[in-house]
Amino acid sequence: KKISHALVTGGAGFIGSHLVEALATDGCRVTVLDNLSTGHRHNLDGAGDRIDFVEGDIRDAQLLDRVIKGCEVVFHQAAVVSVTQTVKDPSHSCEVNDLGTVRVLDAARRNDVRRVVLASSSAVYGDDPRLPKTEDMAPRPLSPYAVQKLAGEFYASTFMDLYGLETVCLRYFNVFGPRQDPSSPYSGVISIFMTQATAGQAPTIYGDGGQTRDFVNVKDVVGANLMAAGNPSAAGGIFNVGTGACIRIRDLWSLIGDLSGVAIDPVFGPARAGDIRESVSDISKIGDALGFSPRVALRQGLVDTLAWY
Ligand code: UD1
Repeated sequence: KKISHALVTGGAGFIGSHLVEALATDGCRVTVLDNLSTGHRHNLDGAGDRIDFVEGDIRDAQLLDRVIKGCEVVFHQAAVVSVTQTVKDPSHSCEVNDLGTVRVLDAARRNDVRRVVLASSSAVYGDDPRLPKTEDMAPRPLSPYAVQKLAGEFYASTFMDLYGLETVCLRYFNVFGPRQDPSSPYSGVISIFMTQATAGQAPTIYGDGGQTRDFVNVKDVVGANLMAAGNPSAAGGIFNVGTGACIRIRDLWSLIGDLSGVAIDPVFGPARAGDIRESVSDISKIGDALGFSPRVALRQGLVDTLAWY
């Protein structure tokens, strides 16, 4: 069954804008709430005229009440997404990532939203040495970011228990694809490496580059969100969204170099505070419950993404 009307917070951002596009293509009416702190209006150029764009902040309860009215599903994507930024400014990121999330949940329950799908993060696992990461492992947050995302999950389940608001939390692993903003030093590593490769510059690898990440294409993340919104049995669930495979950061640089035709040695810098060493998902839970399986292979996804630069 199609979603009639959805709110996407952070809908002008990287992941949000892809989700908005897919929903609009599906014939869903979409309201976007974004304060454009890291998102861009032009990310929505391809979304057509079925969307209502509202510039504003998720901490603004009155505005939320207004934009959420009549929405069946809320996809909560707005956040301070950089781990490093939350290490630098834990208070501001707590306001956005936690107070903002509570405001969204609260507006949703007051306005009879059927379901809220929340963007959580694999960062909640921290450095649990057991791999791959399964949803039943005890969280070990290592950064304010991870604490904030974990708190969001607890709020979600509490809102479901207390108020009957259906919630689903998706623990994204490392998402990549076109429109991931490369302009800040806190951007996702693939967007940074691609900017450097196309400019012929050496990247900086933090630490020895032996850290691993499970890179999942944004198209697959959109697919997981649609499954989480539509499947009745997903309510109350927490699911990994990854590929089940991983690559070391130094090998990622070599691969992006190969694909863009450059061979530049990286510069190695100190390891990042709060950085996780090994990250790879177990995706059997979301596969079994929602029928999710990643469609875009890393190499193909990188080729598609490079074309955007
Ligand atoms: C990322 C996401 C976060 C998400 C999490 C899930 C971003 C900005 N952050 O955090 O929202 O919840 O994944 O796991 O997308 N690196 C370098 N050189 C660089 C940049 C990064 O070596 O120039 C290394 C980092 O030290 C890290 C790895 O690459 O080990 C990935 O970094 P990054 O893309 O910032 O993502 P995460 O910190 O994993």
